[in-house]
Amino acid sequence: HSSVDPKEMKKFQLLAHKWWDEEGDYSALHSMNDIRVPFIRDTLLNMSSNYHLGSPLSGIKILDVGCGGGLLSEPLGRLGASVTGIDPLEDNIRTAEQHKSFDPVLAKRIQYKASSLEEIVEESMETFDVIVASEVVEHVADLEMFIKCCSQVLKPEGSLFITTINKTQLSYILGIVVAEKIVGIVPEGTHEWEKFVPPEELQRLLESHGFSVQAVNGMLYNPLTGSWSWMESTSINYAMHAVKSGAEGRSSPTESLSEMESEQRSATAGTSV
Ligand SMILES: C[S@@+](CC[C@H](N)C(=O)[O-])C[C@H]1O[C@@H](n2cnc3c(N)ncnc32)[C@H](O)[C@@H]1O
Repeated sequence: HSSVDPKEMKKFQLLAHKWWDEEGDYSALHSMNDIRVPFIRDTLLNMSSNYHLGSPLSGIKILDVGCGGGLLSEPLGRLGASVTGIDPLEDNIRTAEQHKSFDPVLAKRIQYKASSLEEIVEESMETFDVIVASEVVEHVADLEMFIKCCSQVLKPEGSLFITTINKTQLSYILGIVVAEKIVGIVPEGTHEWEKFVPPEELQRLLESHGFSVQAVNGMLYNPLTGSWSWMESTSINYAMHAVKSGAEGRSSPTESLSEMESEQRSATAGTSV
């Protein structure tokens, strides 16, 4: 049993050498970096008190699941993160490795592996600070297993970022009819509407695996300008940020500290009365 759908792999195989053509089949993923990279970066910076000038994500271990040719792994690596990019398709990983070699800064920051998520679970239990799965969950064969594996490889209080497509009439018209059949933003057959994921369903799945959803933001692609922007409505594309709950039965170090402090304070208050 696997989260990998062989039919999907066949589709991605045909495009495995096209990842870095900015005007080609993956152009919308290239321009999505303009909003998804700041979303991930700023969310993480807002949650952290450490700031490393020039490489703000330094010290953060990110797993980029379904990394494809490394379109998102590379900018995250340049921001200082230590990135592991995995993808079940070997030719995608080959393309990602080759492109990474053009920038010496990335040599030590990114490692790629041809693998599914479930294959690395055993060796990577609670290993990563952050997981990104961008435009992936609408292609997996078993979403529940995928989310469970995300929870297993993420450290307690780690962050999960997902971008995907909602399952609405509008997403059918824009995401399949317009994008694939009329304008040709992505090749025909890239998406199956049945596999699109409503944010409510994703949230329910995440919550049942120990996550709490922190943000759900709608995203809009403008095919005329080839650019993405945020919007309130999540009826087409959306980005979700969820945080895994702290270690079971234990409070987080900061919580225990403040608990101890307040116990001490009440003890002191008690003696002074
Ligand atoms: C639309 S691409 C997105 C690539 C990359 N995340 C990006 O945004 O540039 C989807 C990727 O997910 C991968 N994929 C499909 N099913 C997967 C699964 N079950 N587990 C991990 N990756 C998967 C595909 O091989 C493909 O590279």
